[in-house]
Amino acid sequence: MHKKALITGITGQDGSYLAQFLLNKGYKVYGTYRRLSSPNFWRLQYLNIFDKVELIPAELSDSASLFEAIRISSPDEIYNLAAQSFVGASFEQPINTTDVSGVATTRILEIIRQINPKIKFYQASTSELYGGIYDHKQNEEVPFHPRSPYAAAKLYSYWTTRIYRDAYGLFAANGILFNHESPLRGLEFVTRKITNAVAKIHLGFSKNITLGNINAQRDWGFALDYVESMWMILQQDKPQDFVIATGQMHSIEELLDIAFKLVNLDYKKHIVIDKKFFRPLEVHKLCGDSSKAKKVLGWVPKVAFKQLVEIMVKEDIKRWEGWQKGERFPWDAINYPDERKTLSRYISIDD
Ligand code: NAP
Ligand code: GDD
Repeated sequence: MHKKALITGITGQDGSYLAQFLLNKGYKVYGTYRRLSSPNFWRLQYLNIFDKVELIPAELSDSASLFEAIRISSPDEIYNLAAQSFVGASFEQPINTTDVSGVATTRILEIIRQINPKIKFYQASTSELYGGIYDHKQNEEVPFHPRSPYAAAKLYSYWTTRIYRDAYGLFAANGILFNHESPLRGLEFVTRKITNAVAKIHLGFSKNITLGNINAQRDWGFALDYVESMWMILQQDKPQDFVIATGQMHSIEELLDIAFKLVNLDYKKHIVIDKKFFRPLEVHKLCGDSSKAKKVLGWVPKVAFKQLVEIMVKEDIKRWEGWQKGERFPWDAINYPDERKTLSRYISIDD
């Protein structure tokens, strides 16, 4: 018998890579997607798995649709990856973010509790939970200090997952994942924003990139490595929470330097700093200690930072070159507006 998995947010970066990973393991994979006027299936098509997964429309704010998704798929495992995942947007849409990245987790856990408490549940928790505190590398024992509506919503989800585990004995576990990136990363996020811009500048489609706080530091890993950890977490004998990280921290300036040097350019000649990309509250440093994951799961990251940046820059260059030659393929960047055209997102306290 094939195991069955339901992935909420299968159209996102992690959802599509996890779907591919689980299909390779022999799972029957179901995924929820949002009913939009123009559905967003490009990643599933890019990975050539669109026809291999079962798609169910569901909206995180709508319990009835989540109930239907779980009833129809009757899964052994649920991976709750859907969320309003962009920290910047959570300052613009705090109420919606609180609902879909926070409260919705209880909606799903409650359905599991009521219809089949044997379903294993993975919650996409995040290093953003640590937020304002950086004394040393962050592990499972370090206290949380959220610094955005997104992080506060995810803190709620983290705790509701633990509460349903302790109160009702559900197999419910948190993966506290640090930033992970790939060529399938959304263009709003700083890594892909930079690699896409490097490709465009290199090929003469654009001259500059406009950014916010380039002093921030993150622990960036490769998304394909990270989705494997999600599966590993649900294969344990008992549910536990794990930090997943590389343990290496780099600034955005380092990222810019590496990415532009790959095409023999000096990033300093191509960046514009604009206040509209600064957040009202910043998370300055994140760096994880994933020793527990190494010891218990046997998980270690395989792709290092420099290699990750190279993979992303090369793929973005390949796409723009292909487009120039008239090739047409599922892809996000061609329809993405120049961010300088969008109005200010939120007012910083410094303004
Ligand atoms: P992503 O690319 O933004 O994907 C998010 C998914 O959620 C998309 O499929 C999106 O659908 C869906 N979604 C958003 N709002 C929804 C709603 N109201 N109802 C139903 N579906 C909705 O994010 P990701 O990078 O793959 O991350 C996956 C999860 O891990 C997220 O929960 C994120 O917060 C968390 N996380 C990510 C990282 C990271 O570095 N990537 C680190 C730690 C934790 P559309 O395609 O229609 O937009
Ligand atoms: N997005 C963006 N765009 N970020 C910028 C920019 C810009 O133009 N300029 C500077 N930054 C800085 C942000 O202020 C932040 O300090 C850093 O770049 C990283 O921003 P993002 O790439 O948007 O990621 P994030 O760290 O805020 O959030 C991501 O990682 C979290 C895990 O730590 C998301 O994937 C979250 O969903 C995830 O939980």
